[in-house]
Amino acid sequence: MAFLLLRRALLLFLHLCLLTWSAWGKVELTVNENLEVYLGDSAEIPCHYRFTDAKNEARFVMIQWFVRSAGNRARMRIFYSDGTQQIIDRNTDYSGRINVTSDQKETRLLIQNVQLSDEREFFCQINGLAAGNAEGKTHLRVFARPEAPVIEGILTGISVTNTAPSKVASCEVRNGFPKPNITWYRNKTPLMPKPGYVNMLTLVTRESSGFYSVQSTLEYKVVKEDQDSFFFCEVSFSVPGAVRTMDSHRVNVTVHYPTTTVELRKDSPQGLVQEGDTVELRCQGDGNPPPPFVFSREQEPDADLESSGDVLVLPSVSRKDSGVYQCRPLGAVGHAEVKGEMQLNVHYLDPAVVVPKDSEVMFKGEDLVATCNALSSLATTIVWYKDTEQVGQGNTLHLQDATYETSGVYTCKVTVPSLPSLHTSGSVHIIVQGGPQLVGVEEEVQLEEVAGRMVNLSCEAKGHPTPSISWSIVGSQNWQEVLSKENDDMTHSMVSVRVTSDVSALCNASNDMGAEVKAFRIKAIPRVTTTSPFSPVEGSGVIIVVIILCLLLLAVLGSVFYFLHKKGKLPCGRSGKQEISKEKTTKDDIVVEMKTNTKNEDAVLLKAVNGEKKGPNDQVTVV
Ligand SMILES: *[C@@H]1O[C@H](CO)[C@@H](O)[C@H](O)[C@H]1NC(C)=O
Ligand SMILES: *[C@@H]1O[C@H](CO)[C@@H](O)[C@H](O)[C@H]1NC(C)=O
Ligand SMILES: *[C@@H]1O[C@H](CO)[C@@H](O)[C@H](O)[C@H]1NC(C)=O
Ligand SMILES: *[C@@H]1O[C@H](CO)[C@@H](O)[C@H](O)[C@H]1NC(C)=O
Ligand SMILES: *[C@@H]1O[C@H](CO)[C@@H](O)[C@H](O)[C@H]1NC(C)=O
Repeated sequence: MAFLLLRRALLLFLHLCLLTWSAWGKVELTVNENLEVYLGDSAEIPCHYRFTDAKNEARFVMIQWFVRSAGNRARMRIFYSDGTQQIIDRNTDYSGRINVTSDQKETRLLIQNVQLSDEREFFCQINGLAAGNAEGKTHLRVFARPEAPVIEGILTGISVTNTAPSKVASCEVRNGFPKPNITWYRNKTPLMPKPGYVNMLTLVTRESSGFYSVQSTLEYKVVKEDQDSFFFCEVSFSVPGAVRTMDSHRVNVTVHYPTTTVELRKDSPQGLVQEGDTVELRCQGDGNPPPPFVFSREQEPDADLESSGDVLVLPSVSRKDSGVYQCRPLGAVGHAEVKGEMQLNVHYLDPAVVVPKDSEVMFKGEDLVATCNALSSLATTIVWYKDTEQVGQGNTLHLQDATYETSGVYTCKVTVPSLPSLHTSGSVHIIVQGGPQLVGVEEEVQLEEVAGRMVNLSCEAKGHPTPSISWSIVGSQNWQEVLSKENDDMTHSMVSVRVTSDVSALCNASNDMGAEVKAFRIKAIPRVTTTSPFSPVEGSGVIIVVIILCLLLLAVLGSVFYFLHKKGKLPCGRSGKQEISKEKTTKDDIVVEMKTNTKNEDAVLLKAVNGEKKGPNDQVTVV
């Protein structure tokens, strides 16, 4: 068995070997079995021979070359030579294209400008008559490179729902020899025919020129992932001694696949939506090509909303537009469940409602709670202001123990922290009602004024309703109101009174709620120039008292000195004695001065209060 295998392998080796060895008679002949050349090149077919019978040296050697077309039994002679002549046969395909060179061991057939039709078998025949004869055969193989392959992809989309493989691309390679092969690739992987998935239809054309052109069509069942795949064809062709390849361009396919999921989302505005915004909702599916979409609201699934393409525009939304929106591919048969959904929330802030409304009257000392509320879809923050000053936070404002200062406009500002563009405000005017309240603490003002002067008396009162002020003045006919002002629950009145004698003035501020009175008492001082500083009777009385006091003091001092001297305890130095007496004396002087000048000093002090260096007709204002 092993021996048989070995024999077979040996035979195969001999067959594959380029050299064919023949022994016919006594001639050894060596030729190449095949010779491979490019079209248009020259081919040189060698034929080596040796007469083995040394005794029978060949005197006469006849060399002939024959050619035979593949599959044709008839041979044709193209060359003859013997010792005397060399003949290239006329009227053959080779008459003008061959030369033969021969010597004692070898003959060579040279064919110029090799044609496709030269793909034939060439025979060399050596005849030495008695020395023997032999024949050898060489198959001439001709090669021509094909042109670069041309690929054409299918431009229209291919649906993954097609049941049979669809044409994806076609590839053509022209003018090759021998026949080139086409291999299809998807990405980098060669494709093999697979029934129901991959078909390759190949058409081979033999051109009149003898070349082969090959056209191949790829039919392929596309899947969604093929939208990112590329396809190309590879041409393989033989050249002398090798196999070469060329690749075509790559082509893409447009894959159509149904929509399986749909997403609905808000394109604009960014963030929270408030009333008045224009809202754009975009519907996006995973299908290719994207189908048209229909939009609806959850509560009315059958009422299609008017949309432009895949966008639903809701101009100037209100809270009524809040809700669930849906979109689905138009005419989605069998995919009824494919839809996108989203919740739209339109936020709002209603105008603030303040209680009490507009304005509210309070009595002095009363308490009041004001509230401010604004309906909103979001959490709100409320701050109360009086003018620009913040007076409270939250939706209630407590006003306690009202005074006239409590009066004013209270504004509550409502804001939405999460949506700053939403804000509103409301206000209430608080009016504190009560009887007049005079400005200044004293109920009664006492003053003195030099007779003949003018005094301004001022009276200011707060109250609501605004108080009115009336004056009643006793002791002077000569008076008039020089100022009367009313504003913001405040009345101010001033009268100018000429002091002729003691004057008593009453300022009565009154309104519906009551009255308050302020009294002024002016003591008229007679003019200094027309009267003596003090009366003689009064003056002599004072002097007598002073003299008595001095005498008493001297007596006491005398007795003290005497006592100390007698005891001898007092040294003759004068210093201590002097200090004491000096002190006493000073003190006594002051007492005297004060007593004597009391009246005048009072007048001076009063003048200083009312103004410096006033003439007798100067006016004085008393509040
Ligand atoms: C054959 O050889 C001769 C002599 O060398 C040369 O003149 C002629 O051109 C050759 N013919 C061909 C076809 O090569
Ligand atoms: C072409 O394909 C055939 C069949 O598969 C094969 O025998 C031949 O060698 C191939 N030729 C080239 C040039 O690849
Ligand atoms: C094929 O598709 C890829 C990716 O989609 C792209 O980068 C490439 O340019 C396409 N090529 C052609 C020839 O269309
Ligand atoms: C002040 O005026 C009011 C209203 O005119 C009056 O009722 C009241 O008696 C007056 N008071 C005095 C002290 O005159
Ligand atoms: C009193 O009031 C009048 C009018 O306002 C004013 O002209 C005058 O100067 C005032 N007198 C004093 C002493 O303030």
